[in-house]
Amino acid sequence: MTSRLPDDGAGWIAIGLSDDVPAGCVTGVVLAGRQLALWRDGEGAPHLWEDRCPHRGMRMSLGFVRGNDLACLYHGWRFDGAGQCRQIPAHPELKVSARICMKTFDVAERGGMLWGWHGRDRATGAPEVAASGTAVRSIHAAVPAGAMRVMLEETPGEFFYGLGQLLPVGGHPDLFSLTMEDGTGELVLALQPISSAQCAVHAVLRGQADAALRAECARRMGWLRDSAERGHDDRQGADT
Ligand code: FES
Repeated sequence: MTSRLPDDGAGWIAIGLSDDVPAGCVTGVVLAGRQLALWRDGEGAPHLWEDRCPHRGMRMSLGFVRGNDLACLYHGWRFDGAGQCRQIPAHPELKVSARICMKTFDVAERGGMLWGWHGRDRATGAPEVAASGTAVRSIHAAVPAGAMRVMLEETPGEFFYGLGQLLPVGGHPDLFSLTMEDGTGELVLALQPISSAQCAVHAVLRGQADAALRAECARRMGWLRDSAERGHDDRQGADT
């Protein structure tokens, strides 16, 4: 398993649900504290880039997907899927220098989620989660990932009672799995550290994933977020 927290070295970190980014769309994400642009080209392939245009620094997450390229919002510089600038609209005859390119990051899609590679070297292997997954919901909470992890480890019954028992996956602190009591499916949660005060949890279902079960799991995720934020506020209040 190579899914790790940022401080623990290299590894894959969940950065969103596959359904969050349709083909031809771009959004901003955070990977280990770094702002990145996550986009899918016209054929659906995901790309993960530094969220800063090499021209004048505009956020690429505000840009436009054009076929299999991403164009900057500001002056329209257009970059291919490998991050190479291919067109500068103000100078249409110019042969663009190979040095004008985006900083790219390794991205993978597996288990109904998108994963970004955190580490000095390029990615090794794929995220070691099951290949399939049906999106349930992502929650973003105003609590550190460590506090959320403690809640998931110590009090999962408060949020998932009647569904099954939530357990860490293989001893890795950012992945949790709940096998449904009737054995028909599995709920998988991936914790994403965002900042010292924020985290996200992405949830997918494997196996049975009918609308009623998805809705119920999504509701429980809302409880998890609300309870985590309430508990964190209470602890901070007690400390002051
Ligand atoms: S800032 Fe991106 S093209 Fe100018």
